Amino acid sequence: MTISQLEFNQLNRVLDEHTGIRLNNAKADIMASRLSSRLRATKCTTHNQYYQLITSPNGHKELDIFIDKLTTHETYFFREQSQFEFMYEYYRNRRSRNVPIRAWSAASSTGEEAYSIAMVLDDLFYNGRWSVTGTDISPTAVEMAKEACFAVSTAQKIPKKYRKAYCLKGIGPNEGTFTVNKSIKSHCTFDVDNLLHLRKVDYSFDIIFLRNVLIYFDEIKQKAIIDNIVHRLNHGGLLFLGHSESLRKKRPGLELIQPCIYKKVRL
Ligand SMILES: C[S@@+](CC[C@H](N)C(=O)[O-])C[C@H]1O[C@@H](n2cnc3c(N)ncnc32)[C@H](O)[C@@H]1O
Repeated sequence: MTISQLEFNQLNRVLDEHTGIRLNNAKADIMASRLSSRLRATKCTTHNQYYQLITSPNGHKELDIFIDKLTTHETYFFREQSQFEFMYEYYRNRRSRNVPIRAWSAASSTGEEAYSIAMVLDDLFYNGRWSVTGTDISPTAVEMAKEACFAVSTAQKIPKKYRKAYCLKGIGPNEGTFTVNKSIKSHCTFDVDNLLHLRKVDYSFDIIFLRNVLIYFDEIKQKAIIDNIVHRLNHGGLLFLGHSESLRKKRPGLELIQPCIYKKVRL
């Protein structure tokens, strides 16, 4: 179904209000195609009707699905593997396993990034006091992260020693899937949160992964997100960005120690 400029603007405004993401006009057809199954499922015959639905007092559930449809959740285990190797080497001789260490996957999507961090931390601090928090704006993605049920084919990216140590193949109805073991799961928590208006994350971290999400925001919102993130990073802590992302301007208090990896330093 085609979408008029007015309908595109209406839906784009809702997306912006809830995520901070604003699509440019060239994305109108993509929006229409991503929403087509939702219009059918909700029996809306126009995009305007769909807009009325998601902005109505009873439209919360559909609003979550709308956000989910228009955000990109692509992720995989050990994405940009060199960053995980860097993290391992960096902490190997620097931290005792008795000192608590907290990591945050700040746009965790369906959980692969958070569980990858968890495997490295367990390898470093076996039986130690480490934890990983994952947050994402998409409730569906967060539920999938909590469930931790992944297609077996996606395990290929996990280094063999971690696959052996932490992954469990599904059997019976779960054939073709795998999950992570109880010990890894027990150190990981997931919650819905918006990077622009963080409500749940009110503590600070030693390691923050903020990868492949800044690209969706304009410069002003990127700055607001970085401010929120840096505020929650401990001194000496590491911030990992995606390889296609970088801080546009030098930022006092953040020292670049490797491409796309920053350390928080005292001013
Ligand atoms: C491409 S995925 C990146 C996942 C993972 N960090 C990685 O690099 O593989 C981007 C994620 O950012 C989330 N996202 C988009 N806007 C957000 C916001 N305002 N607050 C929190 N998460 C957001 C999306 O729901 C999506 O799951």
